[in-house]
Amino acid sequence: MSNTTVWDNPYDHPSLLKRVATPILRCLYRVLPEAVYDAIYFPAFNFYQKSIRAAYSQKIKKARTTGDTRGAMKMERVFKVMKHSLVGSPGLEHTHDLAQEVVDNKVPGAFVECGVAQGGCAALMAQVACSNEADRDCWFFDSYEGLPDPTEADFESGKTGRHIRPLPKGSCLGTLEQVSESLSPLAWMWKSKIPMGQSKHQKSETRISLTVMEK
Ligand SMILES: C[S@@+](CC[C@H](N)C(=O)[O-])C[C@H]1O[C@@H](n2cnc3c(N)ncnc32)[C@H](O)[C@@H]1O
Repeated sequence: MSNTTVWDNPYDHPSLLKRVATPILRCLYRVLPEAVYDAIYFPAFNFYQKSIRAAYSQKIKKARTTGDTRGAMKMERVFKVMKHSLVGSPGLEHTHDLAQEVVDNKVPGAFVECGVAQGGCAALMAQVACSNEADRDCWFFDSYEGLPDPTEADFESGKTGRHIRPLPKGSCLGTLEQVSESLSPLAWMWKSKIPMGQSKHQKSETRISLTVMEK
């Protein structure tokens, strides 16, 4: 049984693999030309993400066989959005728990995400919002231009927080089409009523709304 609560930051407890890989990547980033670093980093990261998803599906099977129904349901929801999200499984589980906590405690209001990228977290929150016991609006915003240039506020005492390097302008780019794909399992809630990408601001009469923010 874990002692963590929904209010703990999951990134305060990185996995062993992350603890080993992070200092190695920091060293490589310092000594290699950026193009060489990218040629190593991106294939390795893709492989890492695939392995994480494979391991996660085993975790779901285990939860099912041990009768952990609530845990298995959460992990199934997380698994569905993993490939659409820049957030790792601990962050996604955390997002799920926070959303579920709001629902369980009947806190009124909508779910809002500012910066949905490809829509992974958004689709996760929408699953909670649309589950049988819940019924709430979702508002998802993005510029669909990726991150702006880093500013001084992005460097803590000259460091980039948990990131190996400052993320350049345009990173974390998502498109309305990708968000549409992420939300497609919930199409019955919204798809037919939102004309994707047709206007800058869209408000639907359904429960999930995607909005493109203007600069
Ligand atoms: C780190 S990504 C979000 C990741 C997402 N939550 C997921 O599940 O993968 C940050 C997003 O915020 C958006 N963004 C950043 N600054 C913004 C701004 N000033 N206005 C609107 N969107 C912004 C970017 O376009 C990007 O899609």
